[in-house]
Amino acid sequence: MIFTGGSIITESGPKQADLVVTGSTVTAVAEPGQKTEGHSVIDATGMWILPGGVDVHTHFGMPLGNGLTSLGWRESSAAALLGGTTTIIDFANPAVGEPLTEAVGKWRGLADGRILCDYGLHVTVTDVADDRLSEIPELVGQGLPTFKGFLAYKGRLMLSPVEMTRLMEAVHGANAMLLVHAEDGEMNAAAESVLLDTGRTAPRWHPLAHPEESEEKAVASVLALAAETGCPLTIVHMSLARSLERLKKARAKNGQLIGEVCLHHLFADAGLYEGGHEAALGAICSPPLRTAGNGDELLAGLAAGDLDFLSTDHCEFSLREKAAASAGGFPAVPNGCGGVGERMVVSHTLAVVSGKMSPARWIETCCAMPAALMGLAGRKGQLAPGFDADIVLFDPGAEYRWVPLGQSDRPGSLWAGLPVTGGVRDVWLRGRQVVAGGQLTLDQPGGEFLPRHL
Ligand code: URP
Ligand code: ZN
Ligand code: ZN
Repeated sequence: MIFTGGSIITESGPKQADLVVTGSTVTAVAEPGQKTEGHSVIDATGMWILPGGVDVHTHFGMPLGNGLTSLGWRESSAAALLGGTTTIIDFANPAVGEPLTEAVGKWRGLADGRILCDYGLHVTVTDVADDRLSEIPELVGQGLPTFKGFLAYKGRLMLSPVEMTRLMEAVHGANAMLLVHAEDGEMNAAAESVLLDTGRTAPRWHPLAHPEESEEKAVASVLALAAETGCPLTIVHMSLARSLERLKKARAKNGQLIGEVCLHHLFADAGLYEGGHEAALGAICSPPLRTAGNGDELLAGLAAGDLDFLSTDHCEFSLREKAAASAGGFPAVPNGCGGVGERMVVSHTLAVVSGKMSPARWIETCCAMPAALMGLAGRKGQLAPGFDADIVLFDPGAEYRWVPLGQSDRPGSLWAGLPVTGGVRDVWLRGRQVVAGGQLTLDQPGGEFLPRHL
């Protein structure tokens, strides 16, 4: 198969090139005008030929244990493909007392046969008993080299500093990486109690239960623990300029620190909590949306390389589900927003078209960097010989208003109606076309589990 007439993204901007694919693999990126005999020819005239997007932070079909489950594997992965993302990394979340390896088996059972895009799994660790930590090397050997620990969510997922240290030592000892949700659970719980005791239970109060100081304190403490233990660390969903400043300083001394930022923290802000009950519900996520200046600083940090990649933390609940839960006050509302379908187009619009980020850095932060840093180097995130033929034909000039993908009954979207520039026209996953003219062309789920190696 040969893609002709389109442009690939280079450091100096879009450049006309042909892309040659053999079977499921990219075999050449060549000067335009290659011989096409023997190839099926894909006309990419006027299109950017992009690597499939890689979103390394999603929660598809995540059961919360209260009868609610986030938007499922099939629907969420459909949105991913339609939005130009062909690889995701989700989370296996063990139940209390459940061995990590069993949880991974269970989560693979949920994803396999349902998921339409390729996927990997991080493993959440909330119990640092010896039996659990001793499973880490085995999981690394099975291609699961990334684990997540929480300083947030007191009484559910939160680890104490001592427990976090034990986890970091175990992860470091297994040559793996720890992802940390850096908010201070004690501080959040105290703020939440004050709000509830004073009758402030509506969704608009959610962000006050997640003070800026809480994230800053947790970021500082996890950076200190990473320095002490030597554990490679990714701070996920960083939402504040002040957190970024802490990370920048620490990175000057420690090269094993990675910073992730998510779409909603760049391009949506806390004004939504004051936009009425429904807008506030749609925006309930943790860390919450912050004041707008933070998004600008984080985007500048991502463009400059002080943050490493752009994810979504896609964890979508319908407005109906959030509204029903809100009868119990904002703490009962399921946390999370959608974004996996929006990430490529919204970031193209608000980072690239605005001139705040070069096309090359955009592709790096959405594709190459997340793949390489999370153990998919050589396979995902780039259009180079030997890489999987995950390919997106992207129309950089298309202008329209955003319609949420695969979830049209979900008006809780942060992105519905946003004027955007850039459209995903066609998508291939490992050489097989899965989207044509903006429509899914799949007959059955073809997503594969991706073993990863750091
Ligand atoms: O609100 C969020 N982020 N929900 C997903 C779970 C998490 O903490 O990443
Ligand atoms: Zn988190
Ligand atoms: Zn998350």
